[in-house]
Amino acid sequence: MPMLQSIKWENNAVYILDQRLLPDKVEYLKCTHYEQIARAIENLSIRGAPAIGIAAAWAVAVASKSLNASSSEELFSDLNPVFQRLINTRPTAVNIKWAIDRMQNLIKNNLSLPVSELKDIILDEAIQIHNEDIQINKRIGEYALEFFKEGCTVITYCNAGALATGGYGTATAPMYIAKEKGIKFKVIACETRPVLQGARITAFELMQAGIDVTLICDNTAGALLRKGMIDFAIVGTDRTVRNGDVANKIGTYSLSVLCKENNVPFYVAAPTSSIDLSIPSGDMIPIEERSFEEVTTIKGVRIAPEGIKVINFAFDVTPAKYVTAIITEKGIFKPAEIQELRFR
Ligand code: MRU
Repeated sequence: MPMLQSIKWENNAVYILDQRLLPDKVEYLKCTHYEQIARAIENLSIRGAPAIGIAAAWAVAVASKSLNASSSEELFSDLNPVFQRLINTRPTAVNIKWAIDRMQNLIKNNLSLPVSELKDIILDEAIQIHNEDIQINKRIGEYALEFFKEGCTVITYCNAGALATGGYGTATAPMYIAKEKGIKFKVIACETRPVLQGARITAFELMQAGIDVTLICDNTAGALLRKGMIDFAIVGTDRTVRNGDVANKIGTYSLSVLCKENNVPFYVAAPTSSIDLSIPSGDMIPIEERSFEEVTTIKGVRIAPEGIKVINFAFDVTPAKYVTAIITEKGIFKPAEIQELRFR
């Protein structure tokens, strides 16, 4: 288990690991106002679908503490702009909405409580969401362990690791468990342009945990797959929808097609907080577009001509036909079976 936590609650404040500085610096941002957390989500100080859901829950707790409402109804109504602000930070991962829905339901079900007690249970719920996420990831890891045969090589994309979650990671959870069990395996981490979550974060956290990890440029994946050097792929997801289509970091789709072409299984690790059964198909998932500077610069140094036109989708959709299976904390599903989660 890696030492660093993406987010933590200490001395009445939320501390967010500033992932923009990794791997060079380990610095936490102290947040005592919900707006600081909203900005940290927007500017990728904290990123990864489950981690931003947890951050949103903490933001609601921080906001409710500072509001001077005289009744629980008033507190609920004063929190409305906070919910909206958080939901508008990043559109693709469904986890923010999932966390806000959960907080709203908790408040609605407890409006009869005195306001001070309601504030306490809002805080407890944020703590609970964080702790549950770690347990969920461990369960995903235990289910996915069956794919980790002695001596295997797995490819992953972006960062679906401990730092993208409350702890342990989704795609990385089986890696940590396999390591604990003494299974030998290698990980290939794709660097993941433009923001390099694979190079800066996945490579960093797996190395820290003593896992055998090798970094490649994204465009090397096809060559390795064709040479038979990879046994399977495992990635995370920001939103998986009813027909089994999966939104994840831009470039995931290309990797899935390369896997299919080379008969290599492509697995998606998806906590149910990232599954949105209200949307029938991946075409309806809102895809975030980010600043052109993420593409034209690396660490502030311009690498492209000034004034160049840029397309910068942060995510893409992998159609269900490229997904071998979806690993959740409730079991492993074929993409077409994901709707069964409704009944579990
Ligand atoms: O833009 P990011 O860094 O938030 O994108 C993160 C990803 O795409 C992850 O792979 C996804 O959120 C799954 S994290 C368990």
